[in-house]
Amino acid sequence: MARWAYVNGRYLPHRQAAVHVEDRGFQFADGVYEVVSLLDGRFADMDGHMERLGRSLTELRMPWPVSPRTLEMIARELVRRNGIMNGSVYIQVTRGVAPRDFKFPADAKPTLVLTAKRVTAFAKPEQLEKGVSVITVPDIRWGRCDIKTVGLLAPVLAKQQAAESGAYEAWMIDADGLVTEGSSSNAWIVTGEGRVVTRPPSNRILNGITRLSLLRLAAARGLPVEERSFTVAEALAAREAFLSSAGTFAMPVTRIDGKPVGDGKPGPVTMALRQAYLDYVAGHGTGSMAETPA
Ligand code: PDD
Repeated sequence: MARWAYVNGRYLPHRQAAVHVEDRGFQFADGVYEVVSLLDGRFADMDGHMERLGRSLTELRMPWPVSPRTLEMIARELVRRNGIMNGSVYIQVTRGVAPRDFKFPADAKPTLVLTAKRVTAFAKPEQLEKGVSVITVPDIRWGRCDIKTVGLLAPVLAKQQAAESGAYEAWMIDADGLVTEGSSSNAWIVTGEGRVVTRPPSNRILNGITRLSLLRLAAARGLPVEERSFTVAEALAAREAFLSSAGTFAMPVTRIDGKPVGDGKPGPVTMALRQAYLDYVAGHGTGSMAETPA
């Protein structure tokens, strides 16, 4: 089936979809984005992603290119044209096209681009059976990691280093030795006491939409949740570790810098939260204790 993209009001064959050479996204990374998964034809957490896009736009003083409702309709139409039931939609908004000048242009119109991708399996069976490994790298990013900008050079370098080390993800470490988050995911542990721990939102991390849903689902299951920072040493001593993002949901992390987390196997809390998230997206299940056998 032909692949389609959306650029500024037009659905175009993917190959022909392009933006101008003086787009500020291209020249200054002056743009923001969202990635939304589609599971069996349902967008996962679309409202949350739209809300965060609005926040990112506001922080960078950019207008909505179209209303959130229209944007959602465009996303739906794009997956329909691409014949996708399982996959993801990438949404990017930039400040628009203008002669290169650092200052905001007086009259640029925002650029809106959407692409859609088919996903045959969100996780490989062995990733769920054995868990994935992460490496740790210094967090060299800027001071506004809470804005989902397309300025992703530090995460690109981190992910490349992970790939070259045979790892799935890189966890970034701040100056105090605390884990901030993954290069494109949030970082979690489950302590020996069964407490679900993830770093609180601040300008040091992106407040993941999946993260927010998992926190809600964990609380609904009666799991004790703590929003606080943790060290790599604490993660290694934890019972479980996992990462979360729009495409990974909750993914077990069983090795950090080559050392096993807990018993080195994916843990029950991680897997239950993953299932709770999938059930929630499918529109059934509140994630309450009553629904899951102990
Ligand atoms: N990345 N932290 C960072 C730095 C991220 O880039 C992402 C998502 C997350 C998780 O956020 P969410 O649960 O809303 O996807 C956390 C997306 C998937 C990406 O860049 O492809």
